Amino acid sequence: MFTFPQARYTLLEQPTPLAPLARLEKRLGRSGLFIKRDDHMPIALGGNKLRSLEFWLGAALEEGADVLLVAGAPVSNQCRLTAAAAAIAGLDCVIIHNDAETAQSLRSSYLNRIFGAEVRFVGSISEESRAVRIEEIAEELRAVGRRPYIVGSAVIGALGYAMAALELLTQVRESGSPIRHVILPGSMGPTEAGFTFGNALLGHPFDVHLVSVEYGQADLAARIARIFGELQHFVGASEVQLDDARIHYHMDYLGPGYALPTPEGENAILTLARTEGILLEHTYTAKPFAGFMDMATDGSIDPSEGLCFLHTGGVPTLFVQDQLFQTI
Ligand SMILES: Cc1ncc(COP(=O)(O)O)c(C=O)c1O
Repeated sequence: MFTFPQARYTLLEQPTPLAPLARLEKRLGRSGLFIKRDDHMPIALGGNKLRSLEFWLGAALEEGADVLLVAGAPVSNQCRLTAAAAAIAGLDCVIIHNDAETAQSLRSSYLNRIFGAEVRFVGSISEESRAVRIEEIAEELRAVGRRPYIVGSAVIGALGYAMAALELLTQVRESGSPIRHVILPGSMGPTEAGFTFGNALLGHPFDVHLVSVEYGQADLAARIARIFGELQHFVGASEVQLDDARIHYHMDYLGPGYALPTPEGENAILTLARTEGILLEHTYTAKPFAGFMDMATDGSIDPSEGLCFLHTGGVPTLFVQDQLFQTI
């Protein structure tokens, strides 16, 4: 069922931890709270994109690539993790940052250089122009005999999170944890669509709660549906259906927008840090965790049904977010 027509390069030998949040349960007066630690991985400070990179690397090596090309902001988790994964696989890595080269942006992206990546700043251009630019740079590399692979295919990256659904269900069964609801950020889509697809392949053991950190509901739902459809086609599983009743969109936590802090997000960061010693950051995980705490306490979910927060990582971003806090 989970044999996909795509080679996988193993970066993660072990499942990430599934842990109870016992001190938070005490604080909130509600049992059945868990965290899946995809922030807790052995490579480059971890994060969701390592699961996707197993399949992106598989595709790159299958094509005979010798250099990975990836684009993102200077603080991009995808760029950092691609640089590390390229180093592990013995490939070169070229990173394109859509930002001006300043002391601040160089500082924000310096981990990429530690992993040996070549970093190019192309100015603050739109995502569309960035996609054009990355193709041009790929062409330039081909012209000098290199074989670039552009990292980022949504459908290939999503396979990593289909596998994560299987990994989580296996842990739930082995540990007897009563997890019914999984809460994760809603953003560009591959992580969420992949998890939803894996959940569907497994017969929908989980209700999936997406807390938007970037888009409006119609846009986010359209992204999920599109990638899910591509996965059906790619995997050859047209019988596996997206069940709208098992996906819940939570739009109340986005606040002023992507990467902009909210008081609820700040409270979530401080609460998890001060009960469990686990870090979140403002862009991807603080707002979903605020949603998780509300779901745990507002009576919307039956007390017998466990809740699991899927921590997708991104913690290194905290080092450039100190100015975003209001209360510390
Ligand atoms: C830490 C973290 N969480 C969540 C996401 C969102 O993942 P996706 O782009 O698959 O929606 C990202 C994306 O970069 C991320 O870095």
